[in-house]
Amino acid sequence: MIRLLYSSQAKPDTHSDLLEDILLTSRKNNAALNITGVLVHGGGMFMQVLEGPEAVVLRLYVKILDDKRHTDSRIIHITPTSTRLFPNWTMGVIEAEPLTFEEVANLRAHRVESVEGDAFTALMHKFNGLLVKAE
Ligand SMILES: Cc1cc2nc3c(=O)[nH]c(=O)nc-3n(C[C@H](O)[C@H](O)[C@H](O)COP(=O)(O)O)c2cc1C
Repeated sequence: MIRLLYSSQAKPDTHSDLLEDILLTSRKNNAALNITGVLVHGGGMFMQVLEGPEAVVLRLYVKILDDKRHTDSRIIHITPTSTRLFPNWTMGVIEAEPLTFEEVANLRAHRVESVEGDAFTALMHKFNGLLVKAE
């Protein structure tokens, strides 16, 4: 398995219907693909964690890259893994505070290979905390 975190710029006209649409499609497809993760939206940006079988995750990411509802996608973190951080979420959603995105901007400012494991882990803990609260 791999885990991939990317961020992207949402198109300026992104509204809740559009987010709902992305989530419905994601939950349907991801369940069939054995993919779990979380989609974070806020401050004009998206962030998404995708975890699952390597080829499946990469294929989905390439598909998502082509989606006109966002631009300027960059991989922030990618790693092989044997565990899921979001095992119960075919796609969790978080409407994030701009503050969360500051942390991500910090990660994004680094090259992928230099992102510290600790910084990534802290952010993932934060996502999990936000998901539990959203339940
Ligand atoms: C920010 C963002 C995240 C997305 N995440 C997923 C996802 O996790 N799974 C998924 O199947 N589609 C996701 N999509 C939608 C895909 O780009 C694409 O529209 C969809 O997979 C097409 O599904 P279909 O072939 O069943 O019509 C996402 C789109 C955006 C803009």
